[in-house]
Amino acid sequence: MDIIPNFVVFEGADGSGTTTQLELLEGFFHSRHDDKVPRLYRTAEPTSNPIGRLIRQSLRGEIQLDPKTLAYLFAADRNEHLFTPNGIIERCTRGELVVCDRYVLSSLVYQGLTCGEELPATLNAAFPLPALLLYFDIDSELAAKRMEKRPFKDIYEVFEFQMKVRERYQALLPRFVSAGVRVERIDASASATEVAAMVIRLVRRR
Ligand code: TYD
Repeated sequence: MDIIPNFVVFEGADGSGTTTQLELLEGFFHSRHDDKVPRLYRTAEPTSNPIGRLIRQSLRGEIQLDPKTLAYLFAADRNEHLFTPNGIIERCTRGELVVCDRYVLSSLVYQGLTCGEELPATLNAAFPLPALLLYFDIDSELAAKRMEKRPFKDIYEVFEFQMKVRERYQALLPRFVSAGVRVERIDASASATEVAAMVIRLVRRR
């Protein structure tokens, strides 16, 4: 499996703070006016392109899709994200540091739980992997508490499901290590500032 050298992925259950941390990391990189610090490109899946928007409609419960259809859509969204002009591959090739909020592992975990392991494994088998994967680990009860204040809940934000999500992350991470990805576990129950310091250290050490 190919590894993309400048590609970093954040993963974790809902409420683990990946989005906040990616914003903080971007702020840190953009405040450095140093030629030795690469340009950071922040991105996320589902993307904001048409396939990603369709996925988000389904996650909000606005349209009903078969769980397998969602697995196909996540893979299609990812394919576009990787291979279009200005996509992940092109940016990494020209030396940008691309940091993505969720990637292949999210599909193996979430779609693995909702439509069985086989389909997401097949659909994602050929995608290249990141050089560094930061896994934001958080107790499911604390994550649920953090999400209480959110105005909307998506279809996966149900406590029992999120406990299984955490278990699946832990079970699947060793596969990424075996595939040559540097995997770092981050204790996401720490304060946002403490977590941000850890993230910056790990990304800079890359
Ligand atoms: P999330 O990063 O939580 O978006 P937001 O912060 O805007 O709510 O991602 C949305 C959901 O999508 C999250 O519950 C995980 C899910 N997801 C999958 O089920 N499979 C995937 O392949 C990806 C990328 C995300």
